[in-house]
Amino acid sequence: MTKIAVFVSGGGTNLQSLINGCKSGFIPGEINLVISSKKGVFAIERAKRENIPHFVIEYKDYSGEEEYSAALLKKVKEFNTDIICLAGFLVKLGKNIVSEYRNRILNIHPALLPDFGGKGMYGIRVHEAVLASGRKESGCSVHIVDEEYDHGPVILQRRLPVKDNDTPQSLARRVLKEEHKLYPEAVKKFISK
Ligand code: GRF
Repeated sequence: MTKIAVFVSGGGTNLQSLINGCKSGFIPGEINLVISSKKGVFAIERAKRENIPHFVIEYKDYSGEEEYSAALLKKVKEFNTDIICLAGFLVKLGKNIVSEYRNRILNIHPALLPDFGGKGMYGIRVHEAVLASGRKESGCSVHIVDEEYDHGPVILQRRLPVKDNDTPQSLARRVLKEEHKLYPEAVKKFISK
């Protein structure tokens, strides 16, 4: 059984969709580790509820990206992690963990990459940028993580129309709903390849 670690920083609705996907047997894997970069976020409650080992590892306790990622790396090795899923994780991973887990780290992004990705493109800003561009389509992407923000090869994408009366919030809601279907599918596809 593939051992999956999920890294989070927020509400963890994507974490929940992955947990559900594993529990139902749709994803041939098991989430045996959740790491949050923030204290007190609801994602941690979700892990608790499901009896999944969980840890808060905060960026501010380390001197920088590489040292922080070394702490993450130590934890995933301790739990024999096969693949890492970033689900709303807001810290950029260091080169050490990316190279040690090369082609084994996935991320979900709430837009159609390669557009509307990169540094600072997260949360509501993504949807504001999509609306400001006048594009008629948005969506979500699951991709493999490399050394650059939102950059590695895309595994799966889902497209949806932008409505004339969309606000960043209404678009965010619809995209998030799609994310919850897309991430389990992409993880299943990735593991079964
Ligand atoms: C999602 O929109 C995801 O694409 C992005 O951060 C958000 C996380 O939401 N990377 P949640 O914490 O999974 O609810």
